[in-house]
Amino acid sequence: MNTARIKKKIAVLISGKGSNLQALINAQSGYNYEIGLVISNRPNALGLKRAQQAKIKTLILDHTLYSSREEFDADLIKAIDFEKIDFVILSGFMRILTTKFTLHYLGKMLNIHPSLLPKYPGLHTHKKALEAGDKEHGVSIHFVTPELDSGPVTLQAKIKIEDCDTEESLQAKIHIEEHKIYPLATHWLVSNQLTLNNNQAFFKGQLIKEELKKPLPFAQRTPND
Ligand code: GRF
Repeated sequence: MNTARIKKKIAVLISGKGSNLQALINAQSGYNYEIGLVISNRPNALGLKRAQQAKIKTLILDHTLYSSREEFDADLIKAIDFEKIDFVILSGFMRILTTKFTLHYLGKMLNIHPSLLPKYPGLHTHKKALEAGDKEHGVSIHFVTPELDSGPVTLQAKIKIEDCDTEESLQAKIHIEEHKIYPLATHWLVSNQLTLNNNQAFFKGQLIKEELKKPLPFAQRTPND
């Protein structure tokens, strides 16, 4: 019997450093996905070098060369679909996406956001958490739907905020968690364990409720669960 797993092809969209992309690259041999394409909207994104080093196909689509968001997103769709990509993983992709784009990949696209959504959508999440005097902070992975940072959350990880924390230290702590949970959530997505139905997220057919989003019990499940 052939037990080799058929890997799903993912595209990873980046704008910057690409540390999450690196985590996805490092984990791909053990999981059910392979990265078929990395797209950056910024020509100098460090993540492009990481992809090239891993011999992954890269593409730069510089948004500043487009006169409208619609035209940019249309080219993005063309590039992704040309490579016969199964799933799209937004990994620090600093673009607001059109409804057309989000609906084209509905249920097949995840984003990672550095806050415990629904708290602090948008930018400067670490600053907001510090200014609010929060004692905890974290990261959320969610399905992408037309409304910014508002799609159903699939998985979260929490960190403690200490008195000495700064925006930089929070970012560093959050990155550690992101690099653990994003490859795992991507594996679950491509294995059809994470699904979106009627704007709700499910894990193995079970509605993901508050208690499942909590960090440890859920995040510690292994890919074979
Ligand atoms: C991450 O913190 C992610 O949560 C946010 O953008 C950052 C990307 O970091 N969406 P990197 O480029 O993966 O290092």
